[in-house]
Amino acid sequence: MKLLELAIAFFLFLASHLMLTGCVAAYQVTLYLHNKCPFPIWPATAPNTGYPVIADGGFYLPSGQTHCIYAPLTWSGRIWARTGCKFNSNWKPACETGDCNGRLACNGLIGKAPVTLVQIALQENQSKSSFIDVSLVDGYNIPVSVTIRQRPEQCTIRGCLQSVNDVCPQELRVSNKKGKVVACKSACLAFDNDIFCCRNAYGTPEKCQPSVYSKIFKDACPCYYSYAFDTPPPLVNCASEEYAITFCPSGWGDAYISI
Ligand SMILES: *[C@@H]1O[C@H](CO)[C@@H](O)[C@H](O)[C@H]1NC(C)=O
Repeated sequence: MKLLELAIAFFLFLASHLMLTGCVAAYQVTLYLHNKCPFPIWPATAPNTGYPVIADGGFYLPSGQTHCIYAPLTWSGRIWARTGCKFNSNWKPACETGDCNGRLACNGLIGKAPVTLVQIALQENQSKSSFIDVSLVDGYNIPVSVTIRQRPEQCTIRGCLQSVNDVCPQELRVSNKKGKVVACKSACLAFDNDIFCCRNAYGTPEKCQPSVYSKIFKDACPCYYSYAFDTPPPLVNCASEEYAITFCPSGWGDAYISI
């Protein structure tokens, strides 16, 4: 009897785990995408040249839900979140931020900046390093954290101390039709000049220094790239087959961010 109960309990545990996460792991990298924002998002992925599209390039993720996507053990590309999307109309763009030609499945297309970008370069070969970072080099839309599921203490990129949208200067703001600030451009994206974009005469770490604008990004999100030659603590030597990527990691508007 005890054994049967144990077996049933184990089965229920397995079933609920599968129902909760719907994730399976096998010879690939599993990315758990959590939406802790109090609004729906439409995560999107785009591979770098030479790598396959994963998860069709984009999908719907309601508030409070988790969705697993899978990448090859060696893969390189970007992940971002789209917000404020309506795909049932013929309007282009379909999303207030991160839109890819009005499509739900970006299928390899990159999103329209500004968005908070998770940049990933995974290596199957253990003697090479896997890199993950979060970039605001083109701007910001919502906060994100990245962590290794087994070793969150050593291997975490934290979210932001506050929303950049709340402190975004007028000249960098992106607002929706209701006038709400939904994203914040980087100075490089907004003004397209060499000083902010670290190009030409400013194309070295010595010449390209933080600006008043990049400092606003850095103060709000110290763990992200705030300009091209920024040096946030990188996520290296954290190779894993299970990563968690959490959008709005502490909910929304909280003072401090957990994972
Ligand atoms: C792994 O990378 C190292 C260093 O680049 C290389 O020497 C080695 O041949 C690679 N191993 C495999 C199995 O590709």
